[in-house]
Amino acid sequence: MTASTQVGIVGAGPAGLLLSHLLALRGIDSIVVENRSRAYCEARQRAGLLEAGTVELLRTVGLGKRMDAEGLEHGGIYLQFAGERHHLDFRDLTGGRWVTIWAQTEIVKDLIQARLAAGAQVEFEVSDTEVAGLDEDRPVLCYTDAAGTRHEVRCDAIAGCDGFHGICRDSMPPGLIRVADRDYPYSWLGILATVPPSTDELIYSRHEDGFALHTMRTPQVSRLYLQVSADEEIENWPDDRIWAELRHRLVIPGWELQDGPITEKAISPMRSFVASPMRYRRLFLAGDAAHIVPPTGAKGLNLAMADVTVLAEALTSLLRDGDSGPADAYSDSSLRRVWRATHFSWWMTSMLHVDPDPDPFAAELQLSQLRYVISSRAAATTLAENYTGYFPLHWS
Ligand code: FAD
Ligand code: DHB
Repeated sequence: MTASTQVGIVGAGPAGLLLSHLLALRGIDSIVVENRSRAYCEARQRAGLLEAGTVELLRTVGLGKRMDAEGLEHGGIYLQFAGERHHLDFRDLTGGRWVTIWAQTEIVKDLIQARLAAGAQVEFEVSDTEVAGLDEDRPVLCYTDAAGTRHEVRCDAIAGCDGFHGICRDSMPPGLIRVADRDYPYSWLGILATVPPSTDELIYSRHEDGFALHTMRTPQVSRLYLQVSADEEIENWPDDRIWAELRHRLVIPGWELQDGPITEKAISPMRSFVASPMRYRRLFLAGDAAHIVPPTGAKGLNLAMADVTVLAEALTSLLRDGDSGPADAYSDSSLRRVWRATHFSWWMTSMLHVDPDPDPFAAELQLSQLRYVISSRAAATTLAENYTGYFPLHWS
């Protein structure tokens, strides 16, 4: 079957769905193709912390209702090391900025609901996705739908929002993409537990036996993470061992960690990866398809949503107004934001995790840096302004 649309979008993660929503607000048609089921996309546990700019964007584009009712606004974090917990007050440090706990699963649910209610074409459970004709002005998005029918959709532009393991990045001409990356010698074990959070704001703890993070999803559901070795297997971590280790790494006198049933647990590797440029002619990459960061500092989801905000404006200028300037600037301007977040995520990760090869020099540097962050207003402000989002997002 052959068809045509203005923008073909590969991937119904936060990037692809938000792009489709923003383009629709500008009167631009799109199709979204996704190889997983709707239920899978809506249940996939990932990020949960939104920068102030991401929150404001979701409000502006009509996706803020449930987030405003149920999201948890946080004005700071706790940094813990050497057995002591210190509070960083973001509002004070940044002139009023904050972050919001609102799960990626809920953003994806709201986006899918909004796209389908608007009559948008979102095809789940597709297979054999391909992008072709990239040297022409109207590239082709090919896929096989859930019923087995092969489709060819001629597009004015294609957006590769298909995550780190997608096909769009590798469809660029050989030799075009430069990769800068870093693997970290540890992973994160993350759990979701049905127990009220034991803290009002997130606790980032550097412990000599490894990093731990206490975050949350709702007033009834906690999310916690433990640094584990890079080759660790989840089978080695029965629930009791997870809670004991979390308690060990998070404890301070006078504070207790409440435990409860663990409903989900998984180990994720830690990696920084930036591919550039993020565009070849009429194929544009956005979100994890172009870059990933280690989770410390919670930038992945925010970057994905920032990319497509810029991309939606660029595609609008290109396709509606015939102005290619913003599309030409898309890769460079996105990469400036990406590299700021890449540096911040690397810095937070390096400051808080314990190297598997004992290194007393590196350990002292980490402690010195942490002491500096909690004692110098300038250093604390550096953390706060990056954490809450350094680059403003524009959407009018
Ligand atoms: P994705 O969410 O990966 O969406 C891409 C979509 O494309 C997927 O639905 C995929 O199924 C689909 N797709 C892939 N290939 C194809 C194809 N060939 N055809 C059609 N569809 C395809 N960030 C944080 O900030 N904090 C966290 O705690 C955190 N935890 C994470 C845990 C894990 C296990 C992972 C993998 C990521 C985590 N992230 C976290 C990162 C954050 O979730 C991502 O940055 C965010 O999901 C990026 O959104 P995206 O839309 O670019 O990509
Ligand atoms: C969350 C994850 C992070 O990596 C982080 O730095 C903060 C919050 C989360 O899942 O809520």
